[in-house]
Amino acid sequence: MSTGLPRHVAIIMDGNGRWAKKRHQPRVAGHRAGVENVRSLVQQCVETGIECLTLFAFSSENWRRPPAEVRLLMDLFVSALREEMRRLHENGVRLAVIGDRTVFSSRLQAAIAEAEALTRHNARLKLNVAANYGGRWDITEAARGLAEEVRAGRLELSAITPELLGARLSLAGLPEPDLFIRSGGEQRISNYLLWQLAYTELHFTDCLWPDFDRAEFTKALDSYASRQRRFGMTGEQVEEASAGAQGQGLR
Ligand code: IPE
Ligand code: IPE
Ligand code: MG
Repeated sequence: MSTGLPRHVAIIMDGNGRWAKKRHQPRVAGHRAGVENVRSLVQQCVETGIECLTLFAFSSENWRRPPAEVRLLMDLFVSALREEMRRLHENGVRLAVIGDRTVFSSRLQAAIAEAEALTRHNARLKLNVAANYGGRWDITEAARGLAEEVRAGRLELSAITPELLGARLSLAGLPEPDLFIRSGGEQRISNYLLWQLAYTELHFTDCLWPDFDRAEFTKALDSYASRQRRFGMTGEQVEEASAGAQGQGLR
């Protein structure tokens, strides 16, 4: 039995710096090549029929990098948004930025708001870009929101459930990521979607992000399609449920 196509793919686009270093180029050249690569990946997702794509662009820990690199990344973010938003719109892509944007420059905040407003009614691909994002931040904000409701007397402590907390997270309303991909060879989550990845299938590749081409993405999709997702059940239960659904023409 195959799991088919993932509805939601979440990616840590890692390895830009090492890609540049291999070519004796400055790290920013790797980041530029990385942005170029996002364009073709988005195109492939649209063509393939993926519903949601969530990309890690800048983590809450990336502020620890040298100030010059942080500045360049922020400038690149502004120019990529300005250059790409029309193409995204024409392709039916809805862009949303997740993460704490309040610390960004007003120029960047305005570029984000403009791109989100332009594309907000699109439904072909939901593209989420995680910027100044951290999984712990996301969960903390959701917990704070619930605590405020309790303090105001609008919510009973006993009414707090995982669903209620999940509904306050950044990607609320979207299906949870089915497939997680990390390029660049590291096998870690780096404070990405900690809550949302609870049952996601993981795919790690040594390929550096600027080299992560159509064939690499297809490899990840094929790997996903060959897996059996059990969600705590036995393999036999999953087989039976799927045979039943097929019999009723539900698949
Ligand atoms: C990922 O590439 C991009 C960002 C974190 C912004 P890196 O810049 O982390 O590349 P490496 O890991 O140094 O090769
Ligand atoms: C994770 O990559 C964040 C992004 C790709 C934006 P890093 O390169 O910052 O991750 P660590 O610090 O090596 O785990
Ligand atoms: Mg890295």
